[in-house]
Amino acid sequence: MGGKEALSGVIGFPLGHSLSPFIHHYWIDYYNLSAKYNAVEIPTENFRDSVQKLIDESYRGFNVTLPYKQKIMTLCESLDETAQCIGAVNTIKIDDRGALHGMNTDSFGFAENIKDSGISLQNKTALVLGAGGAARAVIHGLLSLGIQEIKIANRTREKAVDISRQFPVTVIDWDRREKESAAIDLLVNTTSLGMNGQSALDFDLEYLPLSATICDIVYKPLHTDLLRHAAARGHKVITGTGMLLHQARPAFYTWFGVMPEITDELETGLAEKAEVQ
Ligand code: ATR
Repeated sequence: MGGKEALSGVIGFPLGHSLSPFIHHYWIDYYNLSAKYNAVEIPTENFRDSVQKLIDESYRGFNVTLPYKQKIMTLCESLDETAQCIGAVNTIKIDDRGALHGMNTDSFGFAENIKDSGISLQNKTALVLGAGGAARAVIHGLLSLGIQEIKIANRTREKAVDISRQFPVTVIDWDRREKESAAIDLLVNTTSLGMNGQSALDFDLEYLPLSATICDIVYKPLHTDLLRHAAARGHKVITGTGMLLHQARPAFYTWFGVMPEITDELETGLAEKAEVQ
């Protein structure tokens, strides 16, 4: 790479437990790049100035996490198709003129992780729980994999209805989420329930066919109650770190020109970190 160290990072608030620095530092070392990935915590009142500071410091780009995934769009000169479709940006490339280009790699991250797990979604039905930005990315990813049918349930029904105006999904009542799981092939939790510090997701697995796969995008803890109960019943389970790793790959490529691989060492290291934090 030569010359000055190439800068990248993640912006959000708070950022205390972000696992992104661990992932990108691993790849920077692995590919022996002269680069840095900084955790840049930005209080809301300084948003615009802090982003400008990164441009002034010649950052190549950065990841965007809560609460700025939508707000950053107002500062972007362009948005890729996925970011437009999902309505949120998780990755920024800064060009030579200092202009921001917004992307969303969460859908890619989800889809690649499903592919890695070896399941096929052709002619399959999924039930998605939740209707935030993560749900939109998951639905976009499921559609990119050619799934046949998607059902969505959210505590606040109106948010699911909003999604159904944009994506081909069927809205079901939150109270019927378990009964409606009787004929599904994949259950995806995109709510924050089950995350450390939050209450567990209340979901009786009794109705689910044993052939169904259960995926939780929550990765702290790695083995959420939902996944532990599902595994105990004999379901195939997919943990949340895979999506996190895969969404980071195109971002790294955008900044540094290398599409990085997910090594066993990285996967194990990240799983350990997710479990202890
Ligand atoms: P993200 O953009 O990461 O998806 P979000 O927009 O805050 O985050 O969405 C969080 C999701 O978790 C929402 O679907 C939310 O449901 P509401 O739309 O009804 O708020 C869901 N969620 C959070 N706490 C919940 C709870 N106690 N019970 C049910 N759903 C909950």
